[in-house]
Amino acid sequence: MTALTLSTSAAPGLRADAIVIGVAKGAKGPVVAPGAEAVDKAYDGKLAGVLETLGASGAEGEVTKLPSPAGLKAPLVVAVGLGAEPEKDSAFDPEALRKAAGVAARALAGVKKAAFVLPLGDAADLGAVAEGLLLGAYSFTAYKESASKNDAKAKNGKAPLAEAALLGGKPRDAAHKAALARATAVAEELNRARDLVNMPPNDLNPEAFASIVQAAGKEHGLKVQVLDVKALEKGGYGGILGVGAGSTSGPRLVKLSYTSSKAKKHLALVGKGITYDSGGISLKPAGHNETMKCDMSGAAAVFAAVVSAARLGLEVNVTGWLALAENMPSGSATRPGDVLRMYSGKTVEVLNTDAEGRLVLADALWAASAEKPDAIVDVATLTGAMMLALGSRTFGIMANDDAFRTAVHEAAEEVGEPAWPMPLPEHLRKGMDSPTADIANMGERMGGGLVAGLFLREFVGEGITWAHLDIAGPAFNDGGPFGYTPKGGTGSAVRTLVRLAELTASGDLG
Ligand code: BES
Ligand code: MN
Ligand code: ZN
Repeated sequence: MTALTLSTSAAPGLRADAIVIGVAKGAKGPVVAPGAEAVDKAYDGKLAGVLETLGASGAEGEVTKLPSPAGLKAPLVVAVGLGAEPEKDSAFDPEALRKAAGVAARALAGVKKAAFVLPLGDAADLGAVAEGLLLGAYSFTAYKESASKNDAKAKNGKAPLAEAALLGGKPRDAAHKAALARATAVAEELNRARDLVNMPPNDLNPEAFASIVQAAGKEHGLKVQVLDVKALEKGGYGGILGVGAGSTSGPRLVKLSYTSSKAKKHLALVGKGITYDSGGISLKPAGHNETMKCDMSGAAAVFAAVVSAARLGLEVNVTGWLALAENMPSGSATRPGDVLRMYSGKTVEVLNTDAEGRLVLADALWAASAEKPDAIVDVATLTGAMMLALGSRTFGIMANDDAFRTAVHEAAEEVGEPAWPMPLPEHLRKGMDSPTADIANMGERMGGGLVAGLFLREFVGEGITWAHLDIAGPAFNDGGPFGYTPKGGTGSAVRTLVRLAELTASGDLG
């Protein structure tokens, strides 16, 4: 990852390959953002005009590169758009800073060292810039080997920006240091979640995923318990076993526990970890399965959030439950029509083997419920219907408690993750009535995302506050990169989960 430092140096004298400045959209054209005064001075105070001549407007996502004048040691200035200029006396939105830093970091791929002089109002702004920069600089190159080893550029494309100095950051200020440490820990773990999502499914099967969690547990002093097929059979985890039955790579349930001696609350996080979703016997058609390695994004997010909580030393207990299975068709696969006996004791008639996420989650939710946590939040790439409803950048939030759903939504907004509350309409429950079993794994097609949420609700222990995040849209970016979001795995929900853990620790959540 890009190495970040806080620097009190002035921009003109700094030895770097590039200087990043902010440019906002003012009423009468582009405006140089605070922080870059010395850079502007090197252009004789005419930088805004120069930018306008080059066609810059200050719009979000815009990058303008210009050569440095004599007064700057760095040869290149990169002006990155911050969007609308804030009203007088108010600061830039942290999300605008995060996006701008991410866009700049991506534009600087292949560069060794850059200085960032973006407007830093307070430590939170510094954290936003650091986070956006580290997330925007991400690239996944582990499988690019065709070119010769000594031609690094051909092998890996351009290497990510190696080093960045944040000017205006105060290396001896406790709040600044804490903001940088938080951003670094969360971005590192989030980028690791992206790596897991991007890993091809022939390498990341449930067993491999479990081993990676075990190694991370050792590194960060977390307790990791892995239930393999034998243990799942002994425990009666019919949902996870039923989904994994068709694969030669058996399923796993991984429990990852972070405990703090100062904890007053316990947050449980449950992640859908389908390492590949072919649909099973209800096979997906071509065109619908190419990116289904992303179906473990929920488990990756939970993993990253628990490790982040540990690295930040949050005063809360956080338990992660990763429900890992590969959904494949074969002679041993679950058939449409089969009835599974779930861990909770309920029976489920499987009408469609492609509605597998809810089956593995049901067992994990019931297992999480047995510990009576203060709240459970599950995260899953659960339904195509949620993508149709909210698009590819926004996740849906459902819950059995309106106040909790609102709190989760506010946490998501605070960290810059687009999310929206969704209902659990009672009338949709009867669509899942089964003539044979307690419930079917499918109901009405209309409102499919909400039907899935209603199914999950049946497996949450009595009286436990629960929320469900359907990240099917934002988990994987099929299009080009934007802001601090790369192509491929995005790390969706990680930052919301970390924020929820922080809020639980401080007693500000339920
Ligand atoms: N993993 C898919 C949902 C999905 C679709 C995630 C597209 C990301 C992108 C899930 O297991 C699934 O197949 N859901 C079905 C449910 C249906 C059979 C009731 C769906 O949404 O079509
Ligand atoms: Mn499926
Ligand atoms: Zn799935």
